[in-house]
Amino acid sequence: MINDTAKILSEGFDIDQSVVEYVLKHQEIVESKFFKEIDSLKEFNQYKVIEGMQRAKLNSTHFSWTTGYGYDDVGREKVEEVYSNIFRTEDALVRPTIASGTHAINLVLSGILFPGDELVYITGAPYDTLQKVIGSKGGMKGTLIDYGVKYKELELTEKKKIDLKRIPEFVSSDTKMVALQRSTGYSDRNAFTVEELAEAMAVVKSINPDIICMVDNCYGEFMEITEPSEHGADIMAGSLIKNPGGGLALTGGYIVGTSELIEYVANRATAPGIGKECGLTFGMTRNVLQGLFLAPHIVTESLKGSLLLASIYESLGFKTVPKLGDKRSDIIQGIEFRSEERLVKFCQGIQSASPVDSYFAPIPGEMPGYESEVIMAAGAFVQGSSIELSADGPVREPFYAYYQGGLTYEHCKLGIMKSLNNLYVNNLVELD
Ligand SMILES: Cc1ncc(COP(=O)(O)O)c(C=O)c1O
Repeated sequence: MINDTAKILSEGFDIDQSVVEYVLKHQEIVESKFFKEIDSLKEFNQYKVIEGMQRAKLNSTHFSWTTGYGYDDVGREKVEEVYSNIFRTEDALVRPTIASGTHAINLVLSGILFPGDELVYITGAPYDTLQKVIGSKGGMKGTLIDYGVKYKELELTEKKKIDLKRIPEFVSSDTKMVALQRSTGYSDRNAFTVEELAEAMAVVKSINPDIICMVDNCYGEFMEITEPSEHGADIMAGSLIKNPGGGLALTGGYIVGTSELIEYVANRATAPGIGKECGLTFGMTRNVLQGLFLAPHIVTESLKGSLLLASIYESLGFKTVPKLGDKRSDIIQGIEFRSEERLVKFCQGIQSASPVDSYFAPIPGEMPGYESEVIMAAGAFVQGSSIELSADGPVREPFYAYYQGGLTYEHCKLGIMKSLNNLYVNNLVELD
């Protein structure tokens, strides 16, 4: 069997034998060191999700849907109840009409912040697309700053941690909202753990308990046994084509939080007076819930892939974020490639391992919402789904590739082999 697998890898996918052996050697290292703990995380979160579904008394009638305004869509209501059960919040807004994570976060910010209100990001500059939403970059029309929201950003410490000591300089009792980004984004820091976020939110609340703490939870869901909403976050948002959609949600975003804040956000998403009562689900409740059911498993499959990748590129001498042994709180693995050519070849290698569009080679290009050119490899069943095996990066110094996803560990492994092979045969890395 082992020989047959090695054969299909080298012959079916044209991977050099030395690359196959190199990856398998690292697989042994990460398996023995990390996989047992990852399986425990998976098990806990699987039960947490099932418990949330049972508590909501989910039944098969909830998979049907309505038309038009979408009044009395019991499936939609059930999805939102299940989300608030799992994230331990009072309420939730989970909709296929939320186009992306950026859209979900934009709804939170623009639904809650009014002219004259102050927003402070305490985790440094947010992800590229959010800078455009806020208006701190890009000069777009209709940004938060255009609407008169005041904005400040607290830089991270030299060690790339939240600067707890300086929070009181940046956040005052008049601040309306403090935002925290859990995941790495396009930066070179580790994701903040739930514990680190909780500590920072406690400092904020000690300044004024009424300050709203908002967490961009993209890529963090099910990476730990609790979520930031269980530790002080008043509202959180994320994308269904990332972790919580489990690869089955075709689109959508979620927002979870207190009833009052969800009401504000729902009034922005539809209209004041309509709020959560309208909005079609387009027959997607089954996919959204089945994806959520699978999410704890899939998140850990992709986590295993990230560890394998980190082990390999660390031993090849590249800087990795996070490092192999670091505590993780998102599914992203960053590798600093130090050259555009390596970044591009790596992403092309990932794409060539895809079940869909494997014969396309991605090249850098402009993307809506991004300042620099971006390269994106995602031969996915769902367009742009980054819980499926994918890699991307802005084409700028020091040429980080951000690798994430993989619905199965086996697929992660194939992507890792194909991308390493692409670097190896083009003499861009030497195997030690
Ligand atoms: C931390 C973070 N927040 C928000 C987003 C935006 O998500 P989307 O691409 O779904 O708009 C991303 C995207 O990668 C991200 O990394």
